[in-house]
Amino acid sequence: MEHGPIRTYNARRGRRSQLTDSRLKTLLPRYAVPPLLTGPPPGAERLVVEVGCGHGDAAVAYCTAYPSHWLVALDVHPPGVARMLAAAGAAGVTNLGAELGDAVEFLRTRVAPGALDAVHLFFPDPWLKVRHHRRRFMSAGTLDLLAARIEPTGEVLIATDQLPYAAHVQSVVAAHARWQCTIAERPTWRPVAGFEAKGIAAGRPITELRLTRR
Ligand SMILES: C[S@@+](CC[C@H](N)C(=O)[O-])C[C@H]1O[C@@H](n2cnc3c(N)ncnc32)[C@H](O)[C@@H]1O
Repeated sequence: MEHGPIRTYNARRGRRSQLTDSRLKTLLPRYAVPPLLTGPPPGAERLVVEVGCGHGDAAVAYCTAYPSHWLVALDVHPPGVARMLAAAGAAGVTNLGAELGDAVEFLRTRVAPGALDAVHLFFPDPWLKVRHHRRRFMSAGTLDLLAARIEPTGEVLIATDQLPYAAHVQSVVAAHARWQCTIAERPTWRPVAGFEAKGIAAGRPITELRLTRR
């Protein structure tokens, strides 16, 4: 039996709603991302990628708080991306790029070395079962990839409501030659929404982590 690459997401099936389809068809082209990201677009100061943006609450809030930055938000989940695009349109956000697809593949093939200032990873799928740990986004391999794509003074911001995932990040980073991990302040611009709101409602503490180069 052939095995494909390890996916960090759940390949959800099911029909897309008409609303999702029509939002993606009309709005996705407005937020198109160039074939290769080489740095902030003309006039922008920083280039940020958000991995697994879900419904895009953090992405839209970031773009509103930092109009001089450009943020590319990625997710494989069509209804989430469609909802983000509708919210971005309603908020008048123009410094957002969006794509429906695998962020690992995107970072590998669509981002030039050192092109990014930051990567955001908010409430990644925790993959709590031991046999699923290898599906976690944060791994030695993605840390190598992030080191290649983020410029040397750049950062990775991570938030999670899963203590085992926070411990996992701290341990893979401790074993990595190029990144260090510190507990960070909660970014004031990020709204309490999506999976953070679910985690808080369930009584789980939120851990904020910041990765910088050693
Ligand atoms: C637990 S949800 C969190 C969504 C959102 N960040 C939030 O805080 O509400 C994790 C999201 O990451 C997405 N995801 C996981 N791996 C991904 C990958 N390799 N590329 C793009 N999206 C991914 C999933 O589809 C899912 O929408």
